[in-house]
Formats: sequence, structure tokens, C-alpha cells
Amino acid sequence: MVSKQDDLIILEDVSVSYWQNNVGVHSIKDLVVQRKNPFQNKTILQNISLTVKKGESLGMLGRNGCGKSTLLRTIAGIIKPQRGTVEVKGTFAPILAIGAGLEAELNGYENISLLLSLYGTNKKNGDPLGNIREFSELTDEVLRMPVKRYSSGMVARLAFSISLANEADILIIDEVLAVGDQGFQAKCMEKIYQIKKEGKTILFVSHFPDAVQQICDKAVLLENGSIVENGDVEYVCNKYSQLF
Ligand SMILES: Nc1ncnc2c1ncn2[C@@H]1O[C@H](COP(=O)(O)OP(=O)(O)OP(=O)(O)O)[C@@H](O)[C@H]1O
Ligand SMILES: [Mg+2]
Repeated sequence: MVSKQDDLIILEDVSVSYWQNNVGVHSIKDLVVQRKNPFQNKTILQNISLTVKKGESLGMLGRNGCGKSTLLRTIAGIIKPQRGTVEVKGTFAPILAIGAGLEAELNGYENISLLLSLYGTNKKNGDPLGNIREFSELTDEVLRMPVKRYSSGMVARLAFSISLANEADILIIDEVLAVGDQGFQAKCMEKIYQIKKEGKTILFVSHFPDAVQQICDKAVLLENGSIVENGDVEYVCNKYSQLF
């Protein structure tokens, strides 16, 4: 594959599908007499081609269920596409930011130490645990609780704070603003902006076009698993707002 020197992420003609329960199968009769298949293959991403250069921030917009998180998981290598190629020439921050990675039965502290040991810590950063605790603003009492008892805002605080402690080339941010309160949203935006200025590559999924415009240089709009717009961030955000 020919790829330009500074392209960090290159997707060519990527398609992803899942086997899902066939909602048209209601009974044994449907299965045996009418010979309906209990599963159906549903296409989630179709013919996705995109490139992200080193230091670029790409926004991903679209309605609920259009395939944004699936696209992030595919780029991160969690999902293998049925068709097409995914090339990533860099390391990822912990996958937490796209909703995976935290162990529900473990408490906050246990999750932090597990993930810091898995992903490695920022060597410039002397006290990763202290930084995570400070950024998340989670109390000692909360951090001693199993994560399964956290509110979704608490999960987002812990997950995002751990992902910041990583020294990866690419930061993945999926909806961290959606569940955080106003204070945490503002703090996250400031931090993400700072990371952008440091020259990191960012993949930013959000339902807030204003936030996408603040962080991103370019954006894609997904509809039913396809990219329908790809270009200047302001143009794509306008197209997104026109959907509703
Ligand atoms: N593990 C799975 N098995 C089957 N279908 C799935 C699975 N995960 C996601 N899907 C389907 O894939 C489609 C896209 O889901 P995805 O989570 O990527 O959407 P999204 O754009 O991130 O939505 P949202 O804005 O709500 O976060 C949806 O129709 C969803 O039902
Ligand atoms: Mg999603």
C-alpha cells in the first residue's frame, strides 16, 4: 500500500458487519417450518476510507447508532473488518476512552494500577496515580468502591483521567463530554486542547459540534455506517446540525 510519510492512520475501503439476532424469528415454527435464519448479518460500516496525519485532530459526528464507536474500535484494532485495510503507525492511549478497559468488579485504585501496568506510564510524569486522582476529582471513598457501583459520570472521569496518564501518540475520545457534569466538561475541553497543542493526534467523537470545532481540524459525518461528508470541520459540523 502506498502511504504518505506523515499519514498516521489510513483506512481503505473498510467494511464491518455483525451477526445479530433476527427479530423476524418469533417461534420454533419460524425456525423449523419457515426455515428462517435465527441470525442475520448486519453491515455496520461500509466502504470507509480516510486518512489522519500526524498531529491532526479528526472529529467524528453522526446520529446515535451510525457507527462512530465501531469505527474507533476498528481503528484501534479491537474489531477486525471483513473487508478493507486499516493501517495505524502509532500507539493508542488506553482504550478506556471508547468505553472498554475498566474492570467492573475491581475498585478505582485497582483499575488504575492494572491499567498503568498494562499500558505503561508517562515517564515525564512523576506521580501518575496522584495525577489521575487529581484530574478525576474522585474521592478516596469512591476510588475504594467497585467500578460497577459508579455512575456513568464517575466512570467517564476515571476512564478519561487514566487515558491522560498514557504517553501514546493517538488519543481516542468517545463521548467523554456527554456524561460529565459542566465542570468536568470544561476541564476536559481545556486538557484536550492542550494535548492538541502538544502535537498529538486526536480522534474525537462528540455530539457537540461546538466542541468538535474547538478541537478538530477536519471531521467526518457518518450516516448508516457510511461517510457522507469528509472535510473542513466547520462545513461538516453544519451538515451534522442540518440532520435535525
Ligand atoms: N457487539 C455488537 N453486536 C451487534 N451489533 C452491534 C454491536 N455493537 C454495536 N452494534 C450495532 O452497530 C451500530 C453502530 O453502533 P455504534 O455503537 O458504533 O454507534 P455510535 O455511532 O457510536 O452511536 P452513539 O452515538 O449512540 O454512541 C448500531 O446499530 C449497533 O446496534
Ligand atoms: Mg458511540
